[in-house]
Parts: sequence; C-alpha cells; structure tokens
Amino acid sequence: MSSSNGRKSIFITGAASGMGRETARLFAEKGWFVGAYDVNHDGLETLREQVGDANGSFNVLDVTDASAWTTAMDLFAIATGGTLDLLFNNAGIGASGLLDEQSWDDVMRIVNINFIGVMLGVRAGVPLLKNTPGSLCLTTSSSSAIFGTAGIPVYSATKHAVRGLTEALSIELKRYGVRAADLLPGLIDTPLLSDGMRQMAPSEGMWRLVEPREVAETVWEAYGTDRVHWYIPEELRDFHLRVVAEPEAVREERTALLAAMTAAG
Ligand code: NAI
Repeated sequence: MSSSNGRKSIFITGAASGMGRETARLFAEKGWFVGAYDVNHDGLETLREQVGDANGSFNVLDVTDASAWTTAMDLFAIATGGTLDLLFNNAGIGASGLLDEQSWDDVMRIVNINFIGVMLGVRAGVPLLKNTPGSLCLTTSSSSAIFGTAGIPVYSATKHAVRGLTEALSIELKRYGVRAADLLPGLIDTPLLSDGMRQMAPSEGMWRLVEPREVAETVWEAYGTDRVHWYIPEELRDFHLRVVAEPEAVREERTALLAAMTAAG
C-alpha cells in the first residue's frame, strides 16, 4: 500500500463511479492522497489506472459492514500516519418504488447503504479526523432531503436522515475542531439516474442535469469554508426556502407531478 508522504488525504466511499470518482480524480490532481473505497472492484481498478498507485489506495469496502470499516480505516491510518483531512461519506444507491409496493428487503437495503453506512463511516473516521487540524466530515445527502419525495420515499427519508445527522454533527464535532457539511445535489449525470429521469430533466433551471465534475469542485470548495449545506446547483437553495414558506403549494405541485409520472408509466 502506498503512503501519503505528508500530503493531505481524503477517504471517499462510492469512489468507483459518478460523483465519488470525479472527486477522487480532482483531489489527486490537486496533490492529495486519495483513499478510494467501493464495492465495485472493476471500477476501482480503472480509477487506479487514472489516478496512479502512488497517489492513492484503492480498496473494496461495503459501507454496511462495520468490521470492514474498522479494517479499512486502520490500514488508511497506517498510510497517512493517523490523519484524515476529509472524510467523504458518499456511497449510496437510488431506488424508486412506492413504500407499500416495495419489498422489505429493498427498503432495508436502501436504509442500510444510504444511512447506516454513513453512520458507520463517521464512527470509524472520527478518531482520525480528530487528529487532523481543519478536517471536514462530509456526507452526500440529496435534494430529496428538501421535501419528502413521492416515488422515492425510502431514498428521500434516508437522505433527510443524512442531512439531520450532519447538522447535528456540525455542532457535536466542534468539540474536536472537526467541521461537518453535506451536499444536496439535484440531478447529477451519473449511472445512478434512470434513463427516464435523465430524459425528463429540463435543459435549464434547478432540475437540469449537472456534470459530476461540478460536484467534485463543490467538495473542493466545501473543504475551504465553514458552510454546512451545499446545494448543487445553487438554485436549489431558493427552492428550499420556498418549501419552508409555501409547503401546501409545493405539495400540490408534487402531487400533480407524481400523477403525471404514474400515468406515463
Ligand atoms: P453512482 O451510482 O455513480 O455511484 C455510487 C457508488 O456507490 C457506486 O460506485 C456504487 O458501487 C457504490 N456503492 C453502492 N453500494 C455500496 C456499498 N454498500 N458500499 C460501498 N459502495 C457502494 O451514483 P452517484 O450519483 O455518484 O451517487 C453518489 C451519491 O450521490 C449517492 O449517495 C447518491 O444517493 C447521491 N445523489 C445522487 C444524485 C444524482 O442525481 N446522481 C442526486 C442526489 C444525491
């Protein structure tokens, strides 16, 4: 395993694809040591070829596996001398389906990966973050944490949980001098999106398709400041304010949208 040799370090879950992968590439370009973790071995191998062995460590990790987290973080600590500048708890799965029609296995899979995995990651990473001045504990929530999103109710609920957890951590972790922040992305053009969602995305506005590179650049910006919530694109912040100010109007609109989506099959 290569070592950081004094470079700053980032630990990324879901690094084999999409937003995590672009973040790994961007931070390596900026001279950081990258810990890339995923269940997708092949994706990690192609990332290794792009980033280079000397610039990171590329390992299979299932974020739902508590003992695997301990092993991964212990090995990462050996590579960095016990420090971690940025923990990016990003792995997640998207899943549509109405709650009463989904199998319980599917429901629990979403909860375990999208929320339990994040809590396990924070618990494993805090000892290293505490050792590192200016460190950041970053999570990937979602625009579906702005309002309860019909059609993806369990996904939306897990992302509310991640946002709530992160807000609490942004206060709790201050006792160690560690910051916490989350990303609230809209529609990012990654394999997680279904073809239908990609086709429905408008060409402009807050629901336009955004390149994953823009998310990586936001991660870079987030490391440099103390803001807690990062909307991508930024217009989603105005939408969030409207959801708070006019919840009934937004609910009517979302009801009409769900009906249209159901009719379209
Ligand atoms: P992606 O599908 O390209 O990447 C997600 C990665 O997570 C994959 O490489 C996958 O193998 C990995 N993963 C899945 N289960 C795992 C597990 N148990 N352990 C470790 N890794 C696992 O998707 P994308 O879009 O890059 O997703 C990243 C995060 O962004 C997710 O948390 C997702 O919920 C969130 N997000 C995505 C949006 C989008 O429009 N693409 C919008 C809002 C949030």
